[in-house]
Amino acid sequence: MQTRIISIANHKGGVGKTTTVATLGSLLAKRGYKVLMVDLDAQCNLTESFLKEEPSHSIYDSFLGNIDDTSVQVRENLFILPSSLDMSAMDLMLSGRMEREKILKNVLNNLIDRHEFDVVLLDCPPSLGIITVNAFVASTDIYVATTPEYLPIKGLVRLNEITGMVAQSLNPGISINGIIVTRFNSTKKLHVSVDAKIRETYGEIVFRTRIRENIKLAESPMTFRDVTEYAPDCNGAKDYEALAEEIIVLL
Ligand SMILES: Nc1ncnc2c1ncn2[C@@H]1O[C@H](COP(=O)(O)OP(=O)(O)O)[C@@H](O)[C@H]1O
Ligand SMILES: [Mg+2]
Repeated sequence: MQTRIISIANHKGGVGKTTTVATLGSLLAKRGYKVLMVDLDAQCNLTESFLKEEPSHSIYDSFLGNIDDTSVQVRENLFILPSSLDMSAMDLMLSGRMEREKILKNVLNNLIDRHEFDVVLLDCPPSLGIITVNAFVASTDIYVATTPEYLPIKGLVRLNEITGMVAQSLNPGISINGIIVTRFNSTKKLHVSVDAKIRETYGEIVFRTRIRENIKLAESPMTFRDVTEYAPDCNGAKDYEALAEEIIVLL
């Protein structure tokens, strides 16, 4: 199969990007796909939910061309490209550098050649700087994770603009082709009405599965297990299983 490189994006923090990358990554790996998860956020939440100790090298080294392969295998079929605090300075480090929007694309091409990954999941940072642009340039798909509230939805408009700019020159044809509603609480009227609005506005690119608010999803990273192992019967596990089924059909 052709490798799919999927950005999980939203410049708003706390909308479930990292949780989605970690859980989908684990579920796809269990189904036999060879998966690379890429932590692009200097806060390192994804890295810390898989690695107990700080790795000696990170994606920072890959961006600067110091080390070719900083990926680490964490489970059967599952690899991570860890982040580090230094990534917070990457926007500055890259200013003025030629072809700086394509650095991640080159790094990933190299890793895909070497490891033959089926799926690469990019955990985007909560900003719209050069790192997010690098993610969109490298991607075959862009999925936006959003809570059903107005502010994150406003962010979608901005994300669409950035995607449009990238599509014009750096990655022709790229578009936001998936929206994942996260942290859904059906007892909140606001959530129900914004969820309906998202579906009305964006139509079939919105995944049918809503990821419900579920505390087990917040607890499982501390145990270094994915939610389907930590609490197999919880809503969080069921929802991400259902989302994975929807995504597999598209791979
Ligand atoms: N569906 C959910 N239900 C409950 N807590 C969640 C859910 N999704 C994420 N969380 C928690 O909310 C916080 C933010 O989620 P995270 O995935 O880190 O978001 P982001 O990467 O967009 O900043 C984390 O503490 C996470 O464990
Ligand atoms: Mg995150």
